[in-house]
Amino acid sequence: MQPLFRPLSADDLDAMLVVEQAAHVHPWSRRLLADSFGERYITGSLWLPEQGLKERLLGYFIADRILDESTLMNICVSPGQQGGGLGRQLMEHYLRLCERQGLTRLWLEVRESNIAARALYLSCGYVESGRRRHYYQGITGPEDAIMMNKC
Ligand SMILES: CC(C)(COP(=O)(O)OP(=O)(O)OC[C@H]1O[C@@H](n2cnc3c(N)ncnc32)[C@H](O)[C@@H]1OP(=O)(O)O)[C@@H](O)C(=O)NCCC(=O)NCCS
Repeated sequence: MQPLFRPLSADDLDAMLVVEQAAHVHPWSRRLLADSFGERYITGSLWLPEQGLKERLLGYFIADRILDESTLMNICVSPGQQGGGLGRQLMEHYLRLCERQGLTRLWLEVRESNIAARALYLSCGYVESGRRRHYYQGITGPEDAIMMNKC
């Protein structure tokens, strides 16, 4: 069955937390995820329909928006589903929503060590525009953030 897109809602929090904790080395807390709904945010998620009325969350993104700008704050795909094109589908969905809403200046930050995410963003038209030294706490010490934009 084809995965279905829909915006995230507070009802999705339990499912989001499972994917968040499995996908990220440094996952967001439930509280932070819960604060990511409402007018200021653009969200999207991919769900696999299962037997009955059930669905399984495969991945999602959270971005904020202000004026003509948007910052992608979180994107993740359930580890068992990674490498199959879902991350790209989520990014393309996010970029379509930005285009429809007139958001033309797009930003994000990514850990230097996150090779997969950096490759995905580059292939979606983002360019690297700067670096914040020791911005993140890494497993083996501080880690730089790579700043990227698509304008
Ligand atoms: C980053 C992430 C969302 C990508 O999702 P995905 O479903 O695995 O990605 P896709 O299969 O759609 O691949 C899209 C592109 O990403 C890049 N990519 C994906 N996995 C990669 C890997 N292991 N190594 C290098 N590049 C990779 C490639 O450019 C790929 O394009 P291609 O298939 O044309 O080569 C996913 O790996 C993830 O959830 N990671 C953990 C959370 C995270 O780090 N999020 C980003 C920071 S907030």
